[in-house]
Amino acid sequence: MCGIVGFTGRRDAAPILLDGLSKLEYRGYDSAGVAVGGQSGIQMVKTSGVIKNLKEKTHDGMDLPGHSGIGHTRWATHGAPTDLNAHPHMSNNEKFAIVHNGIIENYAVLREELKEKGFIFKSETDTEVIVHLLDFYYTGDFKTTVMKTVARLEGSYALGVICADFPGHLFAVREAGPLILGVGVDEHYFASDVTALISHTKNVIYLEDGQFAQLTPDGISLYDSTGAAIEAPVTRVVWDIEAAEKGGYEHFMLKEIMEQPSALKATIEPRIKQGEIVLDEFSLSEEDLQNINKIIITACGSAYYAGCQGKYAIEELCRIPVEIDLASELRYRNPLVDDKTLLIVVSQSGETADTIAAMKECKDRGAKILAIVNVVGSTISKLADHVIYTWAGPEIAVATTKGYSTQVAVLDLFAVYLAKRLGRIDDARYQELMDCIRQFPALVQRAIDLNPNLMQLAEQYHNKENVFFIGRYNDYAACLEGSLKLKEISYIHSEAYAAGELKHGTIALIEEGRLVIALCCYERLFDKMMSNIKEVKARGACVLGVALEGNREIFKEADDVIAVPRTEPIFNALAEIIPLQLFSYYVAKENGCDIDKPKNLAKSVTVE
Ligand code: F6R
Repeated sequence: MCGIVGFTGRRDAAPILLDGLSKLEYRGYDSAGVAVGGQSGIQMVKTSGVIKNLKEKTHDGMDLPGHSGIGHTRWATHGAPTDLNAHPHMSNNEKFAIVHNGIIENYAVLREELKEKGFIFKSETDTEVIVHLLDFYYTGDFKTTVMKTVARLEGSYALGVICADFPGHLFAVREAGPLILGVGVDEHYFASDVTALISHTKNVIYLEDGQFAQLTPDGISLYDSTGAAIEAPVTRVVWDIEAAEKGGYEHFMLKEIMEQPSALKATIEPRIKQGEIVLDEFSLSEEDLQNINKIIITACGSAYYAGCQGKYAIEELCRIPVEIDLASELRYRNPLVDDKTLLIVVSQSGETADTIAAMKECKDRGAKILAIVNVVGSTISKLADHVIYTWAGPEIAVATTKGYSTQVAVLDLFAVYLAKRLGRIDDARYQELMDCIRQFPALVQRAIDLNPNLMQLAEQYHNKENVFFIGRYNDYAACLEGSLKLKEISYIHSEAYAAGELKHGTIALIEEGRLVIALCCYERLFDKMMSNIKEVKARGACVLGVALEGNREIFKEADDVIAVPRTEPIFNALAEIIPLQLFSYYVAKENGCDIDKPKNLAKSVTVE
């Protein structure tokens, strides 16, 4: 999704803004631009396409002298990805320039009103109304002008504003869109994502909804929505710059796949202390916990698929009903939620618009909210009653890997923790399950090491046009994620099916040479899976079996086999996804795809 950066200090702003925008490239974008305030007013350059074009157009920023400015990467919503629609947008009198993330819902009305007042629109964006409103309300006082403008806006926005009359001053405004201020020495920054800040400063302030800030080289002034001065804590970011760089790997995705053992270690180890799972972050009282009669897990995309695994683990161990619902559905379905509902929200970024909306919907109905989130200070982490962070570190590749696996691990850990607190498992079983979870980092490392043939398998299968993933129980949860991974980075059409469901229609698509990836790790249902494999083989399919290490039976039917290390069966999905991530990676590489930035996708989906 769109990215924002802002800088004010004593150094040249443009190179710093361009560098910040490069750090945000991973989020997915289709055009970019910068505006710098200098002696001769505001200079702006923008272009469709990649940051490289912007660097070329500005001679690495050298053409834009000035010590403060704003930059943007745009992911088109209102209007095509053209030079004109790219941000920043400038007022007709060239006094103001702005960058904006989010959607202005009342832009059509504002646009008509401003046109009637004589303002000339150059783009098709919703954003442009903001810059003309600034111009309209301007009386010489920057802060008042920003406040009057913002008061007219409906929707979600993170805004960066500069004014030619106030060189060195930036305004940053947040309403339902991530915006973080960077605190430096004689220079200050803002960005929609900490990855754009950490090479400059690790001291940050997370703006909250309704707050805005004025940044100058000398300091940051914070205000609430009424304009009253407020204080906010400066937080230290724990991620380091190496974590946001490729470190010798060809792609961020491969690096992040390989980082999974250490990400899991960071996520699990601090939570198992002296033979107990300690989740201080989940401080629900005993009384409230005993009152919970239903759990709903909600999320989008891969986070939702992590939730599918979570449902199996929690329901199995805690014997409590668990619903799993896509956030984009939950938010509109008038859900049966009350104060006896525990809502578990899963999100890597913590900024996914649908997930936030579903969460607010349930919160209004009294649900207790536990968020499983990777990004500290994100909107979801702030809205939740309880937050368990996945300590995966920054995830740069658009397709999630370590984000997903740490979510699964936290859900598994939570399932065991809750089962113990609810008295649904005895001490021996608790210890046994906890030991398994403690072994997750080693398990995942073994899942990587066990399959040196994945590159060859990818060579063999990369030109398939349609693929089906089939599985039962938690194998099915892994199918959903495995299939998404393959389609989103290699653009191969792929579908995940509960294996028993195949014959209710989809089997019509099984024909000679069709690739079926059959996940058969849940051994209680292995025989059922073998029957499904026979059914598809009888129709000419080519089967890539995924089975537990040591399983010889699978070789009787499958054409090729991927091995998965053994763990407690209810936790299979974690180890199982690892070779599937690698397989997708190598297939995408064979097909020459842009692995870290697949077409049409954005890292964090901050609009509906
Ligand atoms: C797929 C992927 C997406 C995200 C989804 C939710 O690889 O990354 O499906 O899982 O957009 O994002 P978060 O977890 O940030 O809420």
